[in-house]
Amino acid sequence: VFADVVQAPEDPILGVTVAFNKDPCPMKVNLGVGAYRTEEGKPLVLNVVRRAEQMLVNDSSRVKEYLPITGLADFNKMSAKLIFGNDSPAIQEKRVTTVQCLSGTGSLRVGAEFLARHYQQRTIYIPQPTWGNHPKVFALSGLFVKTYRYYDPATRGLNFQGLVEDLSSAPSGAVVLLHACAHNPTGVDPTVEQWEQIRQLMRSKALLPFFDSAYQGFASGNLDADAQPVRLFAADGGELLAAQSYAKNMGLYGERVGALSIVCKTADVAAKVESQLKLVIRPMYSSPPIHGASIVATILKDSEMYNEWTIELKAMADRIISMRHQLFEALRERGTPGDWTHIVKQIGMFTFTGLNTEQVAFMTKEYHIYMTSDGRISMAGLSSKTVPLLADAIHAAVTH
Ligand code: LMR
Repeated sequence: VFADVVQAPEDPILGVTVAFNKDPCPMKVNLGVGAYRTEEGKPLVLNVVRRAEQMLVNDSSRVKEYLPITGLADFNKMSAKLIFGNDSPAIQEKRVTTVQCLSGTGSLRVGAEFLARHYQQRTIYIPQPTWGNHPKVFALSGLFVKTYRYYDPATRGLNFQGLVEDLSSAPSGAVVLLHACAHNPTGVDPTVEQWEQIRQLMRSKALLPFFDSAYQGFASGNLDADAQPVRLFAADGGELLAAQSYAKNMGLYGERVGALSIVCKTADVAAKVESQLKLVIRPMYSSPPIHGASIVATILKDSEMYNEWTIELKAMADRIISMRHQLFEALRERGTPGDWTHIVKQIGMFTFTGLNTEQVAFMTKEYHIYMTSDGRISMAGLSSKTVPLLADAIHAAVTH
C-alpha cells in the first residue's frame, strides 16, 4: 500500500551529518550541524551535567512517574528566571506561563499551534534568511509564513533599514519571529540601540514578538547579556512568546530539553493560556520526558553548580571566538582574496561565509569538509588542527 510513496530529500542541516557519516576519508570535517566539539573534535558532556546526572542516579527516592502535561515545575520556574531575569516583574506578577517542551523546536511548535488556534492574526514574519526548520514548523502549525529582510550580503551584516521597512508594512498584530541572540545562520545581531528601535516599532504596531532563544550564553559567554533583547521587550509590560533550548548552552542536544514561555497581560489570562497549552500538548506527546529537565533543574537550583555551568559555558564560547580569530588569520596568511573580517565580527556558533553552493560542493568533494549549502559553517565544530584544512579549502574554492 505504500508503493507510491516517493523518496523524500534529506534535511538540509541534519542531512549533512548523514552524508558526512558515509564518507570513509579519515581527514573529513563536519561543520554542518551546530553542535559543539572539543579541540580533539569530540562531543562534550559538561562536567556539571555529569555531576547532576550522578546526583540523580544516587537519589533512590527518584521515580519514573509521568510528569504533568506542562513538565517539571522546578524546571519551568528556573527556565523563566533564566531568560527573563531573577527579578522579572512579569514573573513576580504571575503573568508568565512556562511549559517544558521538546527542546527549541518543540517549544516553537507548541507556541505556534497555540497561536494558530487562539490568536486572531495568523501571519508570522520570519527573518530572511533564518534557520531552515522555522518556516516548516510554523506553516505546519497552521500559520501563514512571510519574511522580513534581515541580512545584507553586500556588507555581510544587518540590513536594518530593510528590516524596519518590512516590519513597518506588516499588518497590525502579525507575529514576528526574532532570534534572541546569535542569529542562525548569519551570526549577525542587532545592536542594543537597534533592538530598542525594533521594540518601539513593534509595540507601536501591536506586532507580537516570538523569540527563539537557542543560544543563550553562546553569543557573549554571558547568560544575562544574551537575554537582554527578550528582557527589553518583557520590561515594557507587553505580551511575548519565548522558546528556549538547552541543547547548546548545556550540551543536552539529545535530551531534548526546552521551554515555551508566554508573557500575558494579567495572571488570570496566563492561567487560561496555560490551560490551552495543555490541550495542545496532550494529543501530541502527552507529557515531556523527565531526565533532561531534571538535570537542568538540578543545575539551575544550586548556586554552586550554576556557577560551574557559567564557567564551562564561557569556555565553550571563548573557544569558538578563538576559532574565529584562527580562521581569519589563516586566510590572511594565505592571501585569500576577499574581505573576511565578518568571520571575527559575527557571533555565536556560526559564520555565514558568503561562499556559494558551488564553492561549498567543491570543498566537500575535494577537501571532505561538510557544511550547509548556504555557506554556513559551524565554528563550534572547528579545532586548531582543522583550521588549516578549512583555510586551504576556502582558499582553493575562491581561487580555482
Ligand atoms: C543547527 O542549525 O545546526 C541546529 O539548530 C541543529 C538543528 O536542529 O538544525
